[in-house]
Amino acid sequence: MSTQYILALDLGTTGNRALVFDHSGAVIAQAYQELTQHYPQPAWVEHDASEIWADTQTVMKQAIADAKIEPSQIAAMGLTVQRETCVLWDKTTGQPLHNAIVWQDRRTADLCNKLREQGKAPEIQERTGLVLDAYFSASKLSWMLDWVKQNKPDVDLNNVIAGTVDTWVLWNLTGGKVHATDDSNACRTMLYNLKERQWDTTLLDLFNLPHHFMGEIRSSLGDFGKTDAAVCGAEIPVRTIFGDQQAALFAHGCDRPGLLKCTYGTGAFLVAQTGKGIATSKHRLLSTIAWTESSKGTVLHALEGSMFTAGACIQWLRDELKFVENAAETEDLALSVEDNAGVYFVPALSGLGAPHWDMDARGAFFGMTRGSGKAHLIRAVLEAIAFQVRDVVQAVNEDCGSPIKTLKVDGGACQNNFLMQFQADVLGIPVERPVVLDATAQGAAFGAGLASGFWDDYHTLINSRKIDKVFEPSENAATAQANFQTWLKAVERTKNWE
Ligand code: G3P
Repeated sequence: MSTQYILALDLGTTGNRALVFDHSGAVIAQAYQELTQHYPQPAWVEHDASEIWADTQTVMKQAIADAKIEPSQIAAMGLTVQRETCVLWDKTTGQPLHNAIVWQDRRTADLCNKLREQGKAPEIQERTGLVLDAYFSASKLSWMLDWVKQNKPDVDLNNVIAGTVDTWVLWNLTGGKVHATDDSNACRTMLYNLKERQWDTTLLDLFNLPHHFMGEIRSSLGDFGKTDAAVCGAEIPVRTIFGDQQAALFAHGCDRPGLLKCTYGTGAFLVAQTGKGIATSKHRLLSTIAWTESSKGTVLHALEGSMFTAGACIQWLRDELKFVENAAETEDLALSVEDNAGVYFVPALSGLGAPHWDMDARGAFFGMTRGSGKAHLIRAVLEAIAFQVRDVVQAVNEDCGSPIKTLKVDGGACQNNFLMQFQADVLGIPVERPVVLDATAQGAAFGAGLASGFWDDYHTLINSRKIDKVFEPSENAATAQANFQTWLKAVERTKNWE
């Protein structure tokens, strides 16, 4: 039986997906499982790492069965994951010692504030390219380790290892043989030295983390071992690991300075390729790794504007406020009113990320009157997603020197035509939406296929991607841009709330 498929695992914040790609680059089967979100306290967000692993196996098996192929026909596998979320587990039992702490979780804001008061922020930024914030894994791992010491004193810490979601799932896929991550995930932990491309021992010490905790760092397009046949039904080579935002950057063909994309997932993440050198920002964007490739010795960097709440606030409208039964309804409701009637929303449900970086900001509606209805509030939420992207685009334009001419987008929330049109209006530039919105999974598949020799030319793959629609700025652009100034005032009022 010939090996003629690539399997991509896209393990995101809201759910886990497996996709089977054929040689033409088309998705021939996919399976998805929504992931349970745990909110044990306000501003705390956890995932059950065992559920992530169980669901990964379920969706993998389902996608392979639906594709009507055997696991042995898969030439290689690529993995892309929600970043920063981290797990501690006992390697002798394979059991997590605590729920995974999710990137949105703010419980370590105090620890980060203390480090800031001690004057540590500039040094951390210099070593990692990151802004000192509870978003990243370091403070979360430190909190978890303290929790284990206090609540599970019998655990032998020599047997405890740690990692981001890719590391946890890879360790399980390989039957406990490979404890590793790639540069694009490692650089989000706040423990990775961006210049040396290694774990930074000064930072491991600063966060009181044992040096053996973190796995080996390998190239994103590289070799992560083979899956255990007992687990996956065959020994499938794992040839790519990407952070999900970097995977989307790869799928969009952003391999040169000047190219960038914005993914509207749980959060929205605008990532601009900056090439071979580390680029620094004057506007509090993150310096991060785009990807690394072992066969060519490639190391590419990027600047990133991370906005913590995008699709998540549509989910919040559905699940918590019960304003809609499904996300698609928000489009019709937003279009059912002429304008926002002066209502503005600040999506600081997990604090504010770029370019404000305020862990203590909280979400708020402003400008409501007796006449404000559900449709206005929903419209304000969708507009807020676009306003925050405009805020970051401004920072990128100023950092990169030349203004962005087109915004390439992907992610589930891009299905919303109102949001895309409003985004084009508020930016005053075209917004280009591809047919395949799962760019993260596509990136992981392209990476694995290229690293394994299943495909041989990156640009042929990129050129095979089709554009669904280009949203041009409309006659409403001037109003949308004027309203952006009002929204900025609302943002200021939500800061430092906690
Ligand atoms: O940094 C967090 C990011 O990787 C999460 O991505 O797609 O789950 O919103 P997503």
